[in-house]
Amino acid sequence: MQQNWMSRFSDNIRDYDGYAIGKLFKLLNDPATISLAGGLPSPDTFLKDDLQRISQRRLQEDADTIMQYTDISGEMDLIEAVIQFLKEDNINISKENIVITSSGQQGLDLTGRLFLNPADAVILDRPTFAGAIVAFQMQRPIFAGVEIEADGSDIEGFDKKIAELIRQNIPVKYIYVVPDFQNPTGISMSLEKREALLDLSYEYDIPIVEDSPYRSLRYHGDNLPAIFELDQNRKGDHVIGVYTFSKLFCPGMRVGFNIGPKAVIGKMANIKQGNTLNSPKYNQDMCAAFLQEMDWKTHLENCRSYYREKLAIFLNTMQDYFPEEMGVSWTKPQGGLFLWATVPEGIDTLELFYEAIKFKVAFVPGEVFYGENPAKNHMRINFSYPSKDQLTEAIKRLADCIKKYQI
Ligand SMILES: Cc1ncc(COP(=O)(O)O)c(C=O)c1O
Repeated sequence: MQQNWMSRFSDNIRDYDGYAIGKLFKLLNDPATISLAGGLPSPDTFLKDDLQRISQRRLQEDADTIMQYTDISGEMDLIEAVIQFLKEDNINISKENIVITSSGQQGLDLTGRLFLNPADAVILDRPTFAGAIVAFQMQRPIFAGVEIEADGSDIEGFDKKIAELIRQNIPVKYIYVVPDFQNPTGISMSLEKREALLDLSYEYDIPIVEDSPYRSLRYHGDNLPAIFELDQNRKGDHVIGVYTFSKLFCPGMRVGFNIGPKAVIGKMANIKQGNTLNSPKYNQDMCAAFLQEMDWKTHLENCRSYYREKLAIFLNTMQDYFPEEMGVSWTKPQGGLFLWATVPEGIDTLELFYEAIKFKVAFVPGEVFYGENPAKNHMRINFSYPSKDQLTEAIKRLADCIKKYQI
């Protein structure tokens, strides 16, 4: 007899049909296709020799503990190294304020699980990071999105949205933002808006979740303080920081950390007991070594100059191949790994994606970056992974594809 499995699945999961980006990536198996779709750091930046050397030494010295279970909150060496790392960014925390995670994605999952009941609201940008939408979606919240602006989140729009939700008696649990070089747009939030967002958070007593994977990857302009720092300066405790080593060191380690008030972090560690227990010790040790032995400052400087050059090539080539009359516009990020292109209304970028594959180039259709009511005429473009030659060729192919599509 056949089981009716669907009816047995939990209400939270039954309608979840998998990560939309993941499904699109499965179509990109032709090696001739240049993918501007992923969010991968370039392997050219990986510290392979350092990793090999330190890894071998640690395995020789300490295989017994590396192969063992370890603390749920994280390895003390790594926690201490992260505390020092954050000090350089004017963030001062102690060990009760940090839980090591198995990457940024788990950091987001812990956040959703900790705060959200079904039908609670999350305030976020339109568009925003698709992985956050997926992580939070597991709790079936309402996504209350407001169009992002050139200088970051629309704080007045957030204000109106929160007031509206409160009038409807819908609990607003947190505001989710990626203030530095947002995925997918590459947009950064201005200092004024960071302060205004905090004002809003205090006014309504709603926490801010500040997701910061790209903060160290600034190629132009001055660093802006993390919202976490601004909150500390104002003696607040309204910000939860979500960080990952994925873009700092390498994504293969799957190590990150969440920071925040002791009560929040303690509960996140409790939730971790129920899923991963501890994050892998070997990976945590390698991340600690990254911060303690691998000259991370020089590494990040190298990453910045490497990606700065790719971004410049990309933007210049876009200028050449997308003349104004084509009606295509795009953001000019000061850092991160992505930019956001807008094609004329009426072009559906999911359909364009399937056409683009025929032209052997790929991007991510913008619609996956919306919690609700997706806009159809955008695309996320990654410039970190393809080689410089591939970047130029990819833009030519994309321009040809759009021209053909417009006829
Ligand atoms: C904004 C944002 N948050 C979180 C993550 C997840 O990071 P990780 O790969 O460490 O899970 C990413 C990854 O691309 C991201 O862009």
